[in-house]
Amino acid sequence: MTIKAVVFDAYGTLYDVQSVAEVTEDAFPGYGGIITQVWRIKQLEYTWLRSLMRRYQDFSAVTRDALAYTLKCLGLDYDAETFERIIAKYLNLDLYPDAMAALEAMRDRKLAIFSNGSPDMLDALVKNSGLAGVLDAIISVDAGKVFKPSPDAYTLIESRLHTPPSEVLFVSSNPWDACGAKAFGLNVAWIERVSPEAMALACLESETLPPLTMFWALRTQMDELGVVPDHRIHSLAELPGLVSAIRS
Ligand code: LAC
Repeated sequence: MTIKAVVFDAYGTLYDVQSVAEVTEDAFPGYGGIITQVWRIKQLEYTWLRSLMRRYQDFSAVTRDALAYTLKCLGLDYDAETFERIIAKYLNLDLYPDAMAALEAMRDRKLAIFSNGSPDMLDALVKNSGLAGVLDAIISVDAGKVFKPSPDAYTLIESRLHTPPSEVLFVSSNPWDACGAKAFGLNVAWIERVSPEAMALACLESETLPPLTMFWALRTQMDELGVVPDHRIHSLAELPGLVSAIRS
């Protein structure tokens, strides 16, 4: 069996969620780091909580709610203009520098995004980053109204691409997403962007842990969920070689 489709998580995998730091720091000098990390942590928490509560709201609403929570909990007053300026960055996140070349090198496969993002957010992101021409599909969990890592969400890949899980390589840098996809039955490549050594060093280097180190600890190291991704890579640049090498 060869890999017929390579399917990417969006936020944190193709797009750098840390790239909001410039606008959060500009809006609230001195708070950029903490806003950036709490916002992302809460955004993901809200997806899991809403799925468990069966109170789905799309990722755009969840992202707004998480930012409102973050600014409120830090005691920061804001006006609508500032809020919209920060939120707007989510439609213009930076693409990881090796993303375009990796995608272009795999154009002989079906290429798709499968993300928690709502269709309007993903369409804007893909258009603004110039990926529209290289992707065959943009698949949003919104079609099933439940977020990853629910198995019901991952079924959308097969229903949209008509490619069975055994012929799909799912790529994510989010450990919980890599575990969810593996538990569902997809082939999975996890991108370990922060090595355990870099993680440990970051803890040693500072007496008070900066927010980014806390984020790394919570959201970049492999989870203990009883499943192990098939492949561990360290950048998107490694992917084309991996995809060509996979045969079973
Ligand atoms: C995504 C987020 C959750 O689904 O990383 O793109």
